[in-house]
Amino acid sequence: MTDQQLYQYAVTQQQFAYAPYSHFCVGAALLCQNGKVYGGCNIESAAYSATLCAERTALAKAISEGERDFSVIAISASSGEFAFPCGVCRQLLAEFNQDLIILVGNHRGLLKRYSLRELLPEAFTGENL
Ligand code: THU
Repeated sequence: MTDQQLYQYAVTQQQFAYAPYSHFCVGAALLCQNGKVYGGCNIESAAYSATLCAERTALAKAISEGERDFSVIAISASSGEFAFPCGVCRQLLAEFNQDLIILVGNHRGLLKRYSLRELLPEAFTGENL
């Protein structure tokens, strides 16, 4: 699967976002090393802190289907601007692969790739316990 295809998958996930409070719809697409893709969208709560980001929705779907090995996560937002994963999502993603590629895009069709290690240096992991 190309970066463009994975990013487009993330864009299509925006339509499922439940975002009545922020109206900021986020879509994610998590590519596993076996080639499978799990989509996710944000799910908001009136008790704001219970909100789930699109990235963690995709991760929960994948983990609950037995996946553990991830290579890329694409993220898109209805703003059309680059949408980077929040700190909580970075932390949970780091649990599985610090070399995960984070793929973000914007409305101009520009794609950017980062490693999770770049976005969350010196991550606290199970190694630190
Ligand atoms: N959001 C995500 O889904 N992913 C992120 O990485 C950043 C924020 C969602 C949470 C909330 O529903 C909305 O965007 C505004 O913060």
